[in-house]
Amino acid sequence: EGDSTLSITVVGASGDLAKKKIFPALFALYYEDWLPENFVIFGYSRTKMNDEELRNMISRTLTCRIDQRENCDDKMTQFLKRCFYHSGQYNSEEHFSELDCKLKEKEGGRLSNRLFYLSIPPNIFVDVARCASTRASSTTGWTRVIVEKPFGRDSESSSELTKCLKQFLNEDQIFRIDHYLGKELVENLSVIRFSNLVFEPLWSRNYIRNVQFIFSEDFGTEGRGGYFDNYGIIRDIMQNHLLQILALFAMETPVSLDAEDIRNEKVKVLRSMKQLLLENVVVGQYKGHSKGGKTYLGYTDDPTVPNNSVTPTFAAAALFINNARWDGVPFLMKAGKALHTRRAEIRVQFRHVPGNLYKHTFGTDLDLATNELVLRVQPDEAIYLKINNKVPGLEMRLDRSDLNLLYKARYTREIPDAYERLLLDAIAGERRLFIRSDELDAAWALFTPLLKELEDRKIAPELYPYGSRGPVGAHYLAAKHNVRWGDLTGED
Ligand code: BG6
Repeated sequence: EGDSTLSITVVGASGDLAKKKIFPALFALYYEDWLPENFVIFGYSRTKMNDEELRNMISRTLTCRIDQRENCDDKMTQFLKRCFYHSGQYNSEEHFSELDCKLKEKEGGRLSNRLFYLSIPPNIFVDVARCASTRASSTTGWTRVIVEKPFGRDSESSSELTKCLKQFLNEDQIFRIDHYLGKELVENLSVIRFSNLVFEPLWSRNYIRNVQFIFSEDFGTEGRGGYFDNYGIIRDIMQNHLLQILALFAMETPVSLDAEDIRNEKVKVLRSMKQLLLENVVVGQYKGHSKGGKTYLGYTDDPTVPNNSVTPTFAAAALFINNARWDGVPFLMKAGKALHTRRAEIRVQFRHVPGNLYKHTFGTDLDLATNELVLRVQPDEAIYLKINNKVPGLEMRLDRSDLNLLYKARYTREIPDAYERLLLDAIAGERRLFIRSDELDAAWALFTPLLKELEDRKIAPELYPYGSRGPVGAHYLAAKHNVRWGDLTGED
């Protein structure tokens, strides 16, 4: 430890992700003493800046946790002293050699480990991987590269990208981020399942009627229309974030908690999935809407989006896993922008209690009286289980209540940002939360034929007003599979 150093280079340092997520996460790790004693951080991008200007830029986005306000300013000053900047082109080996010199100087001859975070558009991933690996790799320790989606836009372009990256990097140097895997509740999913007796025995088609993965945002693609229009919500959210959660949810018990064991199980789920048919998918796009004197622009009103774009900003899908555990159980996904609320959750709806003794004691619809387990990933992290309960009193009347684990009521610690966990794992060489290339291939294999069909046939999305609950088609899709969206029952 004492005589090794860690150098972290954020490539694309002046970009949005770097400013909003990466530097603040690095600072949080520093603040909590998770970083090794000897470390330096370099920002790299084309913008001409000096060290001081970089420090000014990032200092505006650093914050301290509420429970750690003490000597926050001090810590920030200390942290910023370890931050440096190098300006260069992304495809210039020469400029990366210059970076290498600066890194060497800071490393002072000690064993050095180097982490590169590619916070840049995908069309320059390979250039940077080439320059960094040939000119700025560590000669004494490890060199790792973090990349983040989009990893191509279909099976073909994704495997092309993988192939190109592998010319310069080994698979074990590539850390593919899916930041949803770094979220506290997603990390907890396996803990809940495998460390409690009460869940795992129910985790199959015998007891589970359907599972829902729901993502919604209450804002549109504001400012990102150019990127988004080339991808759409299926590639932006479903093929990665929701599918990753599904794989974790549905996997068999891994042999151990080792990364390879877990990823082996996840990839088995992905490869067992039935082909996703167009008839099991609904797409939508938000349109302008006025509410309370305010006007919200529609997706195609964005000047960076073509007027006739059919790119979905909403999608719902019913997926099936062809294995003994899940045969016939609908896994529903729903993801959308510009909806009425911002939320991400997993909902597990259980079967009816057979021969329900209490069927006449409900005020409400009998159909609602099934158990539902909800893992609310955000906001306001919570795990709750809807149960039937006797209303206190002399009469026999039942209602629906929640066994509720609301994080902010139970824990006082603030929940770390996903990027903190992921950066820490990448530094530690822990790959459990990163996407292996065969997982990526399987994820694309599932969605590529569907995406091609949607695009070849120019399927028109169902329009829904900005701020609404999304297209009604999602309701019919669920109904076709005997499902009701748990977030729309009005009692969530
Ligand atoms: C990103 C998507 O991966 O995730 C964005 O590209 C989306 O469109 C974002 O807004 C959501 O992440 P979070 O952590 O804010 O829920």
